Amino acid sequence: MGFCSPRVLLFALSFLLAFAELVIAKHVGITRHYKFDIKMQKVTRLCQTKSIVTVNGQFPGPRIIAREGDRLLVKVVNHVQYNVSLHWHGIRQLRTGWADGPAYITQCPIQTGQSYVYNFTITGQRGTLWWHAHISWLRATLYGPIVILPKRHIPYPFPQPHKEVPIIFGEWWKADTETIISQALQTGGAPNNSDAFTINGLPGPLYNCSAKDTFKLKVKPGKTYLLRLINAALNDELFFSIANHTVTVVEADAVYVKPFKTSIVLITPGQTTNVLLKANSNIPNNATFLMAARPYATGPATFDNTTTAGILEYHHPSSATKSQKKNLPLLKPKFPKFNDTLFATKFTNKLRSLATKKFPANVPKTVNKQFFFTVGLGISTCSKTQTCTNNTRVAAAINNVSFVQPNTALLQAHFFRQSKGVYTTDFPANPPFKFNYTGTPPNNIMVSSGTKVVVLPFKTSVELVMQDTSIIGAESHPLHLHGFNFFIVGQGFGNYDPKNDPAKFNLVDPPERNTVGVPSGGWVAIRFLADNPGVWFMHCHLEVHTSWGLKMAWVVNDGKRPNQKLQPPPSDLPRC
Ligand code: C2O
Repeated sequence: MGFCSPRVLLFALSFLLAFAELVIAKHVGITRHYKFDIKMQKVTRLCQTKSIVTVNGQFPGPRIIAREGDRLLVKVVNHVQYNVSLHWHGIRQLRTGWADGPAYITQCPIQTGQSYVYNFTITGQRGTLWWHAHISWLRATLYGPIVILPKRHIPYPFPQPHKEVPIIFGEWWKADTETIISQALQTGGAPNNSDAFTINGLPGPLYNCSAKDTFKLKVKPGKTYLLRLINAALNDELFFSIANHTVTVVEADAVYVKPFKTSIVLITPGQTTNVLLKANSNIPNNATFLMAARPYATGPATFDNTTTAGILEYHHPSSATKSQKKNLPLLKPKFPKFNDTLFATKFTNKLRSLATKKFPANVPKTVNKQFFFTVGLGISTCSKTQTCTNNTRVAAAINNVSFVQPNTALLQAHFFRQSKGVYTTDFPANPPFKFNYTGTPPNNIMVSSGTKVVVLPFKTSVELVMQDTSIIGAESHPLHLHGFNFFIVGQGFGNYDPKNDPAKFNLVDPPERNTVGVPSGGWVAIRFLADNPGVWFMHCHLEVHTSWGLKMAWVVNDGKRPNQKLQPPPSDLPRC
């Protein structure tokens, strides 16, 4: 019998097949199913009980855990009186814009009694992201972490931590948040500030009647912990710090960064930051330290000037030390002043892409289209249905356009070529008139309004400079772009100088993110490649500014090849 006998061949073939299967299983992800029931739940905080909108009765909402390459099927069933939509913040949604979630942008909301399956694959991303409601102010209580682990057998580019812990910051109101925002929009004024910040849903011991609602992290000396920080607060950027500890920042917005040590982390709403915390080996058993977060606030308005705290507690594993229970003091972290922009700048300047062979920084080196957007506040006239003082209301705008939410989803209008009466394609590439953006405001601070988009051909390389304005007051605005990551190539104070500033851009290892704080009284330059067809929302992640119109959308057209086109909508896509 020769070696080429059918039996030997068959054996070899089956062996090969089995091997191929193994290789494929290693590189292609699995499908993970989640069921999200949107329902009311009574929750008590600060000695007050209120009914809040939750996923599965949990607050904060359930954690999604997946691996890079996995497909997620999240079935959302709406059992509450509000219209709902959910957004998977930072997930690229390559050609699956239907699953992105912002209401009236990529989908009509899920109405009471209806359901919708969000169907998307996590491609080329690993790290911490999060999900939240994307309609009105429902994200005040509808949010949770998304943990994306690297593919199987692929290590982190840093030592494997002993444990991984999501730390999600939120904002808590004693009153009903839907009532707060609808009343504010009705009167044209500012909505009430929150009553507390929270860590994993808990305000902590620095508030009245809240000591029992404190997040506690138990650590073992000598071990390293990966803290997955998420800022889910509605309207506040936050400083985070742990007393007597420094952390090492290793990732931002699900992209690895060059590690650096810091005792304070700045995190804007929408951003995520992974940090390594090493529990010191020479700290006594039962020693406790406060980990706390409080606002970085630059705007003209008042803000919630309180501090949320959790407790870091040391536990020695050996039984000999277990018995000794000394009364050790609870140490508190030190914070910069609430408006310390210098500190904020120093922190953001430390963020650099890893930019290695394995994790390259694919910064667009050439630019096809340049945009210059002013972002900031202004005023607008009131509509007949509003009850405002002086007939004016606070508004917010990009290039003086305050975005008006359409009655149907932009993505559907785009896909079915029915944009007429829904949106126009004349969003200005530059401010309609020039003024000293960060100086004395112009006489006329009225904004215009409309549902305007920018249309981009597939694979346009975009450079966008966002300039804060000091109309009403300079303020840091955390701008979030859906559907893409972008590179932050430059930033500065005062007015952007198109002649001299580009020479200073970092095209080697700039940080890659989905949300960037436009510096208070300054500007930021970002670049991204428009390689994802669809309609992509861009807005300030301070929810109050989004409510006032600081938002717009990019329409990215299909490419020529079949795999460069937006997929058709799923059959269960909600109707308006
Ligand atoms: Cu996290 Cu459009 O938002």
